[in-house]
Amino acid sequence: MNYLLGIDIGTSGTKTALFDTAGGVMASAVLEYPMQQPENGWAEQNPEDWWNAAREGIRRVLKTSGVDPQEIRGIGLSGQMHSLVLLDENNDVLRPAILWCDGRTAAECEEIHARVGRDRLIELTANPALTGFTAGKILWVRKHEPELYAKCRHILLPKDYIRLKLTGAYATEVSDASGMGLLDVPHRCWSDEVLEKLEIDKNLLAKVYESPEVTGRITDEASADTGLAAGTIVVGGAGDNAAAAVGTGVVTEGKAFATIGTSGVVFAHTDELSIDPKGRVHTFCCAVPGAWHVMGVTLAAGASLQWFRNNFCADIIADAEKRGVDPYDLMNHMAERVPEGAKRLLFLPYLMGERTPHLDPDCRGAFIGLSAIHTRAEMIRAIMEGVTYSLRDCAEILHEMGVTNREIVACGGGGTSPLWRQMLADVLDCEVSTVASREGPALGAALLAGVGAGLYESVPAACAAVIRTSAPQQPDAAAGKRYDAVYEVYRSLYPALRDSYAALAKL
Ligand code: XUL
Repeated sequence: MNYLLGIDIGTSGTKTALFDTAGGVMASAVLEYPMQQPENGWAEQNPEDWWNAAREGIRRVLKTSGVDPQEIRGIGLSGQMHSLVLLDENNDVLRPAILWCDGRTAAECEEIHARVGRDRLIELTANPALTGFTAGKILWVRKHEPELYAKCRHILLPKDYIRLKLTGAYATEVSDASGMGLLDVPHRCWSDEVLEKLEIDKNLLAKVYESPEVTGRITDEASADTGLAAGTIVVGGAGDNAAAAVGTGVVTEGKAFATIGTSGVVFAHTDELSIDPKGRVHTFCCAVPGAWHVMGVTLAAGASLQWFRNNFCADIIADAEKRGVDPYDLMNHMAERVPEGAKRLLFLPYLMGERTPHLDPDCRGAFIGLSAIHTRAEMIRAIMEGVTYSLRDCAEILHEMGVTNREIVACGGGGTSPLWRQMLADVLDCEVSTVASREGPALGAALLAGVGAGLYESVPAACAAVIRTSAPQQPDAAAGKRYDAVYEVYRSLYPALRDSYAALAKL
C-alpha cells in the first residue's frame, strides 16, 4: 500500500495526519502549544514546541495506524505563514519566533517603504510591507536585538524549521516564501533588488522550490527521533492557506474558499497574476506550479470566539466536558437562538489589529451597541457575525479586482459550524459548501507529497482523485437583506474609530 503524511504547524497546535492515496485518514493527532503575548499586540511562540509537537504527532500516528513507515511514499509540510525563526551557526533557535499576528513592526514597514519605494515593492513582491510579513520582523530584530542578529546564520519559516529537523535541508517553497515580503512573486525567486535595498544577506535565506518538488529526505537522526523511514522524501509543501486550497480542491481558475481558523481568509485561485494596487489583499504564489492566489486576511476570526470562550465561558466549558461535547457546539446552539443582527449588537474582530481591509496594527476589538438586554448569547452571535462581515470586507475587494466567486468552500474550525456557513452564505450572497475531510492543510500538504512522489500526475489531478465537497448551502435573500443593513453600520465603524485607536496606541 501507499501512504502519505501531512504535517501542519498551526498557531494553536500541530496536526499530523496519515492518509491513503484516496485521502482516507489512517490516523491523525493534534498536539497543542501556547502563544505568548509579552506586550499588547505582540505574539510569539517557541519553535522547539512545534518540533516536539511534530515529533510526538508522527510517533502517535505511526503507532495508532500500525502502518509500516516504509510504505509512506512522501511527507508534506504546511504551517502558519510569515512567522520568523532565527537560527545560529549550530541551528540553535536564537529567540522565540515572532508570529504572523504580531503587530510590533509598524516603524520597520515604513522603513521598508522608504528604502524600496512602496510602488516598486508592490511591483516586485506583489504586496506592500505589512506588519504581519517577515521582512519587517527581520529589521525589528536587527534594530532592537543587534547582538542576537549578529549571530543569525539562517532565517526560516515555521514549517521550514521542521523540514530542517527532518531532513537537514535549508529549504522553503514559493507559497510560504511569498509572505516574507522578500520574494519576487511574479518570477517565483528571491528579489535581489529588495534584499540589497534592505541589506539582508541572501545567504541567510533558504533555497526556494515549487510546492510539490522534493526538498530533502528523512535523515538517520530524524528517523530515530520519529520512527519514519530514513530516505523518505519531504516535498516543499505550502503555507497553511495555499495548503488548505489543495485540501479543499481550490486549485483551478474560478475556485475560492473561506477559512475560519485562528485567522480568517477569503482565498481565490488565479492562473494570471492579479495585484491590488492598494495592497489591501495579498497576491502570493500558490501551490500549483505557475499559478497564484489572491487572498484577504482578517487576523482574529476563530481567535475572537476562542478569546470569548476562554475568558467568559468557564461554565460552558465545564458543562461541555461533563456532556462529552465541544464547548463551541454549545456556544453555537446559544447563538442559533438569537436573530440575525444579534439584537443590534455589533462586534469588531480587531483583537490583534487588522490586515484586510484596514492594514492597521493599532485598531482593536469592540462591542458596539451593547445594551442591558444583551446576554452572552447575543455576544457570541455578534462575534460570529462580526467575523463574517470582516470576511465580506475581504470578498468585496476580490470582487473589485474581478476575482468573483458565486460558490465558496468553507473550512477551518469555524467552517464545520452549519450556522457559521449559513451566515457566510447570507452575508456574502453566495453558495457555501464544505469538504468531507476535516484535515484541511495537512491533507493538502500530503497531496503535494503524493505529486512529488509521482502518485498523482499534478496538483489538480490529485484533488480530482481525492477531494469531495458537500451539497452547497444556499443564501437566504431575506436574511441577506437584514445582514446588509447591519453590514452598512459595521463598515462605518472603523473610520469613525480610527483616530481613537491611534490615540489609544500612544498611551
Ligand atoms: C496569512 C496569515 C494567516 C496565517 C495563519 O497571511 O497570516 O492566515 O497563515 O496561520
